[in-house]
Amino acid sequence: MQTLDDLFGGHFMSEVADPYSVYARLRRDEPVKLLDLPMQPGYVVTRYEHVVAVLRNAALFSSRANAKGIGLVMGKTILEMDGAEHARHRNLISLAFVPKALKGDLPARIAALANAMIDQFVADGTADLVAQFTRTFPLRVIAQLIGVPIADYETFKRWSLDIIGFGDDPVRGFESAQKLVDFLRPVLEARRNAPCGDLMSTLAHAVVDGHRLEDEEIFSFLRLLLPAGSDTTFRLIGSTLYALLTHREQLAEVLADRNKIAAAIEETLRWESPVQFASRETTTATTLGGVDLPEGAQILTALGSANRDDKRFAQPDRFDLHRRIEEHMAFGFGRHFCVGSHLARLEATTALSALLDRLPNLRFDPQKSTGVVGLAFRSPRSLPVVFDAPR
Ligand code: HEM
Repeated sequence: MQTLDDLFGGHFMSEVADPYSVYARLRRDEPVKLLDLPMQPGYVVTRYEHVVAVLRNAALFSSRANAKGIGLVMGKTILEMDGAEHARHRNLISLAFVPKALKGDLPARIAALANAMIDQFVADGTADLVAQFTRTFPLRVIAQLIGVPIADYETFKRWSLDIIGFGDDPVRGFESAQKLVDFLRPVLEARRNAPCGDLMSTLAHAVVDGHRLEDEEIFSFLRLLLPAGSDTTFRLIGSTLYALLTHREQLAEVLADRNKIAAAIEETLRWESPVQFASRETTTATTLGGVDLPEGAQILTALGSANRDDKRFAQPDRFDLHRRIEEHMAFGFGRHFCVGSHLARLEATTALSALLDRLPNLRFDPQKSTGVVGLAFRSPRSLPVVFDAPR
């Protein structure tokens, strides 16, 4: 049986440059393909229609698959829950991220964070926008929202990347998950004693099924929310910058009309989906695309492949901000649709506006760039740029 390494030709999933030609072949010849995945054998599903069919049917395709993957390091979270249990727990946090909750002074606070980071390098006329901006910007935002007082963002970011990257290095993933909890324990204790209106206070005093959430349940939420809220959005902002800097005529359009930033972000979500897979498990034997799936079969829906399916998107490999966006799969689909999609769009729009306003004549140095890389998660590792510094 083939492995992901055999298929994508690399030892480190984080270094895959082009999964899209492999996806195209799979969509054509083996749209539901059995592979030897890191934890156990599973079926990779690459066509848009099949990805929707799986994610739409939560009774047949359970999210408990995540308990055997990311749940091992994060603990039990809503990612692995189904049915009423999922709904009850999701409701605890989802209200904090609906569009209404993101109004008030939050957009201005996010813009202030972006501008304070840009202040650090604007006079240089050169920067690596990943190291100096995208890498920690969304972490700063989500930390404020949750109420986590972080002094050392680089360390925190490393823990968070280790947690979602546990497939590459499980030992580091577990160690970092523990360090995160050690850091959060006194903060939670403080919110239990004195709530102050942030999300940590809400969780500290939430009651589900008649009992207050245990510390361990709250830590699981936070081990999900901190990486989910930062490692994904930093990739989206980096890939949108990459897309615009390598498509200069479309960058010129965005510079002339900032309303087009939203279209650029939406097209990047489709073209370079930051999260490439969502996992499920069959609850009973079934068939998909003519392939028999036994009960308990692991399913890996390839969101990034669905988003490049030419049955759904014309010329799918082209980045085109004029595309009429059909429903893309970058935030998933169905009951587990991303809780943070509105926040991610708000952060990305704010970041792009601030960068384009403050870094005139922004140019890219492609010689120094690796391009967009990764398999499970994708983004540029660096974004070396030059721009006109203020005199
Ligand atoms: C560009 C940025 C983002 C992308 C591409 C993304 C992608 C996704 C995807 C694909 C899922 C579905 C997983 C599944 O069906 O198994 C998901 C779920 C989730 N996302 Fe995001 N996400 C992003 C930003 C955020 C942010 C900013 C937050 C912070 C609140 C967040 C919190 C969550 C949570 C809590 C879930 C679990 C929902 C559930 O299981 O019901 N995400 N995300």
